[in-house]
Amino acid sequence: PESELSEIYAFAIQLGKDAGTILLESLHERRRDDVDGEKQEIVEELVMEEKMNAVDIVTKTDNEVEEFIHASIQKRYPSHAFIGEETYSKGASKDYLVKNEPTWIVDPLDGTVNFTHSFVMFCVSIALVVNQKPVVGVVYAPLLNQLFSACKGKGAWLNEATKLPLLGSVGVGPIPKNAPSKCVFSCEWGKDRRDRPDGNLHRKVDSFLNMAAEVGGRDGKGGMVHGVRSLGSATLDLAYVAMGAFDIWWEGGCWEWDVAAGICLLQEAGGLITTANPPEDIQTSKIEDANLGGRLYLAIRPASGTLEETGRQG
Ligand code: IPD
Repeated sequence: PESELSEIYAFAIQLGKDAGTILLESLHERRRDDVDGEKQEIVEELVMEEKMNAVDIVTKTDNEVEEFIHASIQKRYPSHAFIGEETYSKGASKDYLVKNEPTWIVDPLDGTVNFTHSFVMFCVSIALVVNQKPVVGVVYAPLLNQLFSACKGKGAWLNEATKLPLLGSVGVGPIPKNAPSKCVFSCEWGKDRRDRPDGNLHRKVDSFLNMAAEVGGRDGKGGMVHGVRSLGSATLDLAYVAMGAFDIWWEGGCWEWDVAAGICLLQEAGGLITTANPPEDIQTSKIEDANLGGRLYLAIRPASGTLEETGRQG
């Protein structure tokens, strides 16, 4: 029922704020303690564990924040299922498969590498998924003081006051075949560093270079693309597409916890997302399809046409 969803939404917003506060405290505490140390040593000490490789890292803060969020949800909604990045990593079971029952999907710290290096682009991401569709999404970037939230049917919001998209009316109209005109394109690298010609890393490098080349334009006067960006947080990329600041984002290498809340923001703001390989609207493809990880995602901003029109599905 709608009243229950509103209650859950309010709970998720408060949970996001509290979790973000823990992230911030942990960052400040570390800055106080480590002010005299060598940076690389500090970074190494912070990394508790490397998962797939040296860029796939976990810090004490990831675990603490996930434990806090998990316990809070269990207390308030004991019958709901829970999928968290760190809980999954520890068990490495198949328990993360999204079922139809209400399921919280949480990344306690998206942008762990950024956080470790004290770079501002990190956040907590909390989503509730029902029947495999995100219905509540909260993303909080505490150092930026940006809280993004969305609930099915209630729109997407910045800091609970400003409705997204902010730039939805800019550039409305069909997108030219090759690239949206004057766009900002964002691409993340994922964590797979294997050097394979058919691998995602190569495809991303190609895509990034193609987009970067568009910045100059074919006539040398400035082209279709205004800029290319790589923030280091898939969740924040999606939030900025929902905002209308970014026009296109794509990445291969995401997991549900990287995108579940962002998908809710994007859908409520009127944007589109697909698992871009092959292109399908997430509405029809179901979030469950992302269960294998390593999926390609492509998101485009609100009010800017259809995915087919972009001609850039990966
Ligand atoms: C990662 C970040 C990164 C993206 C990876 C994600 P994490 O999440 O969002 O930008 O490229 O695919 O796994 O590990 O920092 O929570």
